[in-house]
Amino acid sequence: MNLKKTYILGIESSCDDTAAAVISDYDILSNVVASQSIHELYGGVVPELASREHQKLILPVVKKTLEEAKINISDLSAIAFTNGPGLVGSLMVGTSFAKSMALALNIPLIAVNHMQAHILAHFINDPGNKNPDFPFLALTISGGHTQIVRVDSYFEMVELGKTLDDAVGEAFDKSGKVIGLKYPAGPEIDKLSKKGDPKKFSFTKPKVNGLNFSFSGLKTNFLNFINKQVRINENFIQENLNDICASLQNVIVEILMEKIIMASKQTGINTIVICGGVSANSEIRDRLKVNSGKYNWNVHIPKISYTTDNAAMIAITGQLKYQNNMFSDFETSANPRLKI
Ligand code: KG4
Ligand code: ZN
Repeated sequence: MNLKKTYILGIESSCDDTAAAVISDYDILSNVVASQSIHELYGGVVPELASREHQKLILPVVKKTLEEAKINISDLSAIAFTNGPGLVGSLMVGTSFAKSMALALNIPLIAVNHMQAHILAHFINDPGNKNPDFPFLALTISGGHTQIVRVDSYFEMVELGKTLDDAVGEAFDKSGKVIGLKYPAGPEIDKLSKKGDPKKFSFTKPKVNGLNFSFSGLKTNFLNFINKQVRINENFIQENLNDICASLQNVIVEILMEKIIMASKQTGINTIVICGGVSANSEIRDRLKVNSGKYNWNVHIPKISYTTDNAAMIAITGQLKYQNNMFSDFETSANPRLKI
C-alpha cells in the first residue's frame, strides 16, 4: 500500500483572477489569488489585458502558494489546471504553465472544468460546510454563468437549466455600471442594499419557461427606469442609491429562488448547494436559509473564498481526479466553450 501523502497544485486562470492552491488529503494548505484590478478602469474584463496580467502573475502566485503550503516543488504529486470554459488567452497561460511544470517535474497533469470545480469546492475539508450527499442540485451563479445542475456523483453532472443571455453576475455588474458603481458592482450592490428598501421600486421579472434564466430584459428595464427617473430628477440616483440597489437585488434573488424551488420540486431533490462568485451575496445566503426551513432543504453554503474564482476548487477537483486516475495527456488544450 502506498501511504505517501499526495500534494496537488491547482492553477486557475480562466478569467481575471490568477490563482494557485495546494491540497493534501482534502485539506487546503494554501490558497493564493491575485485579482487583476486593471479591469476596473474599463468597467469590465478586457481579455487581452487579462492574459498579459496572467503571464506576469502566474509564477509569483505559484511560488507564493508553495511557500505558504510549506512544501518543496519536488513534493508535488500532480498539477491540476483549468482548461475551460473561460477566455481563451487567459486559459492558454494557465494551460501552458501547468504543462511545462508537469513535464519538468515528470508528474501527472490533470485538466479541470472550471464549472465542475465550482461545484466540487463543496468537498474541500471545511468545518463550516459538510460534504453534500448525492444527488444534489447546484445553483452555479457567477459573472459568466448561471446554471442549475443535477449532481449525481463527482463527475456525473447534468445541466437542468441555464441562462439564455446574460449571467446573473452580469445583471449585477451591468446594472451597477448604470448607477455609477465600479466593476464588479455585485459586492457594492450587496453592501448598499443592507441600508435600502427592497420593495421601493419594482422591476420586470423575465418570463422564461422551465429552469432556464434570462437577465437581459431586466437589465434593459433597469436602464430605462433609471434614465426616465434621471430625466425627472437629476439627483435621483444619489438620493435613492440604497433603495435602487436593494430593489434590484431583491428581484434578482427572487428570480433565482423561484427557479431553484421549481428544480427541487421537479426532481424531488432537497439538497441544494450554491457556487460561483455571486453566491457570496448575503441576501441569497439568507433567503436560502429561510427556504431550507420552509421546504425542508439541506442547504450547503461554502466559505466566500471558495465561491469566487479560486484555485482551491481546482485543487480539490484535481485530487478527486487523481484518486480516480483521470489524468490528461500533453495534447490537452484550452477549451473556452467546455461544457459541464
Ligand atoms: O465566480 P466569479 O468570481 O468569476 C466568474 O467566474 O465570473 O464571479 C464574479 C461575479 C461578479 O459578477 C461579481 O459582481 C459577483 O460575482 N459577486 C457578487 C458578490 N460578490 C461577487 N454579486 C452579488 N453579491 C455579491 N456579494
Ligand atoms: Zn467562476
